[in-house]
Amino acid sequence: MKTTLGAKRLLFPSPVALVATGTLDESNIVTIAWVSLLTSKPPSLGISVGTRGFSGEAIKRNKHFTVNIASADIMVEADFCGISSGKDLDKFAASGLTKLPSVHVDSPIIAECPLNLECRLVQWQLVGQTNHFVGEILETHVDTRLLKNASDHASIDIDQFNPLIYFGGVREYRIVGEKIGDAYQVGNKLKK
Ligand SMILES: Cc1cc2nc3c(=O)[nH]c(=O)nc-3n(C[C@H](O)[C@H](O)[C@H](O)COP(=O)(O)O)c2cc1C
Repeated sequence: MKTTLGAKRLLFPSPVALVATGTLDESNIVTIAWVSLLTSKPPSLGISVGTRGFSGEAIKRNKHFTVNIASADIMVEADFCGISSGKDLDKFAASGLTKLPSVHVDSPIIAECPLNLECRLVQWQLVGQTNHFVGEILETHVDTRLLKNASDHASIDIDQFNPLIYFGGVREYRIVGEKIGDAYQVGNKLKK
């Protein structure tokens, strides 16, 4: 049996992204749960950023940003960046998160995040009170300590990665459990 909750409940699990905007000298961090990969060719992702905050205008002005996926280890810092504004304070200084230079864009990446994506703004649209930004992914950085095999960039140890998951609608943070199967494979059991 199902029950209906209405459209506004926005019950949805998402990874927590810390989006860094601006430049190495003048940067801001905004916590974003509304993030998704969009296309593989070209590699791109989308983020939804409200118009009331500081970050939307910075992205439009600079035309680049970085998406830094938070691990559960920095839950408090990630939450802080989602309940404070760059209008009022320097979130890098206040949170203690560390900025590192990107390779292709001026916005910094965040050292404490295990995965960092450098993005160039290629498209944006205002939908209601929210900016939908499409970023072309120009570079991916991963913490070398997460690689099971240093020469194989695909050998990421998800247990070490420990991504922080936000459950919208109930406003809870969660962690990912253990591996239960291989994607694009386990479904073969149902193929005739
Ligand atoms: C867990 C979490 C997820 C959030 N996700 C989003 C989001 O996807 N889009 C958005 O515009 N704001 C989101 N926010 C709210 C912004 O992070 C918040 O408004 C922030 O203070 C804006 O900062 P800024 O003014 O420095 O840009 C989220 C906050 C939290 C705590």
